[in-house]
Amino acid sequence: KDFDTVIRNGLIATAAETMYADIGIRGGRVVALGQELARGRDEIDARGKLVMPGGVDAHCHFDQPMEDGLRMADDFLTGTRSAACGGTTTVIPFAQQIKGQSLRAAVEDYHRRAGRKASVDYAFHMIVTDPTPEVLREELPALIAEGYSSFKIYMTYDDMKLDDRQILRTLAVARRHGALAMIHAENADCIAWLTETLEEAGHTAPAYHATSRPMAIEREATHRAITLSELVDVPILIVHVSGREAIDQIRWAHGRGLRIYAETCPQYLFLTADNLGGGYEGAKCVCSPPPRDRANQRVVWEGLSDGLFTLVSSDHAPFRFDGPEGKKPGGKEVGFRHIPNGIPGVETRLPLLFSEGVRTGRISLNQFVSLTSTNPARLYGLHPRKGTIAIGSDADIAIWDPDKEVTIENGMLHHEVDYTPYEGMQVTGWPVTTLVRGERVWDGGQFCAPAGHGEFLPCGKPEMARPRPQDTAGGHYVGNLPDALAKLSKAGGHAA
Ligand code: URP
Ligand code: ZN
Ligand code: ZN
Ligand code: ZN
Repeated sequence: KDFDTVIRNGLIATAAETMYADIGIRGGRVVALGQELARGRDEIDARGKLVMPGGVDAHCHFDQPMEDGLRMADDFLTGTRSAACGGTTTVIPFAQQIKGQSLRAAVEDYHRRAGRKASVDYAFHMIVTDPTPEVLREELPALIAEGYSSFKIYMTYDDMKLDDRQILRTLAVARRHGALAMIHAENADCIAWLTETLEEAGHTAPAYHATSRPMAIEREATHRAITLSELVDVPILIVHVSGREAIDQIRWAHGRGLRIYAETCPQYLFLTADNLGGGYEGAKCVCSPPPRDRANQRVVWEGLSDGLFTLVSSDHAPFRFDGPEGKKPGGKEVGFRHIPNGIPGVETRLPLLFSEGVRTGRISLNQFVSLTSTNPARLYGLHPRKGTIAIGSDADIAIWDPDKEVTIENGMLHHEVDYTPYEGMQVTGWPVTTLVRGERVWDGGQFCAPAGHGEFLPCGKPEMARPRPQDTAGGHYVGNLPDALAKLSKAGGHAA
């Protein structure tokens, strides 16, 4: 009945509770919560500290192959290192299907990329870019059953976007097999037209990236995604929601009783479109959707505090500013259309949200844990193994000094990106020790994970996004089809 590790005297916060208790860890799991636990071989004194479930970052991009000479700065080694040092113990990056490639080949490729490199545990979302009949009938259902129970689909980007009919077909598979679809909602044709119009006028500086993707085109695509979800009668998640107009659509959907989940990211709370100005440096903050303005930041904060949002993820998409493979392709300053989209943030996600969310009282400590750990674990079928501190759960724990004052500088971060968009920001509170399955991966200001400590996590069915069973006829999706069609389908017709 001895413990490998005991964490003593800390204030534990989960999504549901705040309590003074010690944590006994054995075999990588939490096996006891109590007071005056017996000594462990390793003792951690957490007096004056907060003890929380490690973060679950359910939206990050590591080592995704890019086109012509571009490369992501972080692979699974450096990306998960950065995560660990910022208190995150599980990441869910993407395995992107390239058009023409089988989905399974994509997943296998990413397993090779991650193999023995990760220091925190990881699962994969798939990115479905080529929903051929074969993919929809065979590959996607098989992969969902094997633990890849979520996938992202894009309404924009030429090499990734699906048209509405393809989205409907893919959502129908999510419904039938209990998977969760994540949707990148921006209107591709509107972006293309605005981009060519700006270019014709000679407006190619990074600041025009934001001009080319105004809120209206996110609002329209968000509304359309909601409609497609309603037609198929399947819950969806709208990823990286940037501001008021998209939020209005989601509130409207909630008013109609639709299960539309929503994710936002630190860039929509801490950056504005002004960060894309000031010359080519603005390329550092080019991401999609673009950051908006202060008024929109306030609306996103409201959505966090009132429960509109289910989770906060980083959308870490790492590109170096200098050098030929990142924000200056070929070493040159290019028009905004050619700047790779995305910003780093896997290490700063939790401290930024803690400091400006919890310390200011915008969200409670328990909401913080929900948004950054418990909800993503539940949404993607990893709970209760991940996302909480409970008997039997993995001992994935972040111990925080809630009063530590930190000025964010890129030099202190552990990614391979040569900048942070949050340079110079002052935050209060930082994780001082991170444990993954009971092992220290970040402690005393040092990254200290045993090599290859991170394990692959097959995901269960997303518990928050279970489709309504009464609409299923003979295993075929019926959804919100008009009555007559639904009857046909129940009578043995072929719905798909
Ligand atoms: O600009 C962004 N967010 N790049 C990453 C890819 C995506 O759409 O999430
Ligand atoms: Zn996206
Ligand atoms: Zn992303
Ligand atoms: Zn069928």
